Amino acid sequence: MSDFLIFDNVVKLYSNRWLALDRVSFSLDAGEFVFLVGPSGAGKSTLLKLIYLGEFPTYGEIRYLSWSTKTITMDEIPLLRRKVGVIFQDFKLLQEKTAYENIAFALRAVGKSRKEIRRRTNELLQSVGLSHKKDFYPPQLSGGEKQRISIARAIALSPPLILADEPTGDLDPETAGGIMELILNIHRQGTAVILATHNMDMLRDFDFRVLELREGKLV
Ligand SMILES: Nc1ncnc2c1ncn2[C@@H]1O[C@H](COP(=O)(O)OP(=O)(O)OP(=O)(O)O)[C@@H](O)[C@H]1O
Ligand SMILES: [Mg+2]
Repeated sequence: MSDFLIFDNVVKLYSNRWLALDRVSFSLDAGEFVFLVGPSGAGKSTLLKLIYLGEFPTYGEIRYLSWSTKTITMDEIPLLRRKVGVIFQDFKLLQEKTAYENIAFALRAVGKSRKEIRRRTNELLQSVGLSHKKDFYPPQLSGGEKQRISIARAIALSPPLILADEPTGDLDPETAGGIMELILNIHRQGTAVILATHNMDMLRDFDFRVLELREGKLV
């Protein structure tokens, strides 16, 4: 059994009554890629949120690296979050910061030196092909460009796990293909990925395991 990420009988009730996840159990190996699929409202975003502890499970346990939701302390939550990169459909970039600053911000928060921040941010901008747009603000970037910046931010601290919640949901097929290619490249370098989507066409192109949720249950 993997000891990278484990869901053990996880139940999530919102407001103690709305059942979003129902006894979900699965494990993910280090470096593995899985698709998380299911119709709208099935619980995909909830499952991802429980991993980065945006929410806590109501019952059951989630273990990630050396942490468990049963024993993790408030002080440890930021440490866990440094080990998980998150990519959202709507990017969630800071609007008043440039592309460069959106990425550098993630590095500053962990107390890297100014020199190291500059080196790493420029390297990340280059890896997503946007060095020339580093001083642009999010409203001056296309959807695909915004997603590239959010991917650079997600991998800034080289986390062993990337969670992508409908990362191409708002993009045209060609731009979406480029974003998918970028995520696959990150995976090829050894990073585990959970990618939530309700686009079943996407699955056909890849040979990865699929986790399917229906009304909060894994099927
Ligand atoms: N903060 C919340 N409070 C109450 N209920 C919530 C909350 N967030 C989600 N839910 C409910 O939990 C269920 C699962 O929602 P979730 O967002 O995880 O679904 P999803 O699979 O990501 O859907 P979509 O494909 O539309 O993004 C839904 O019934 C939703 O109404
Ligand atoms: Mg969702």
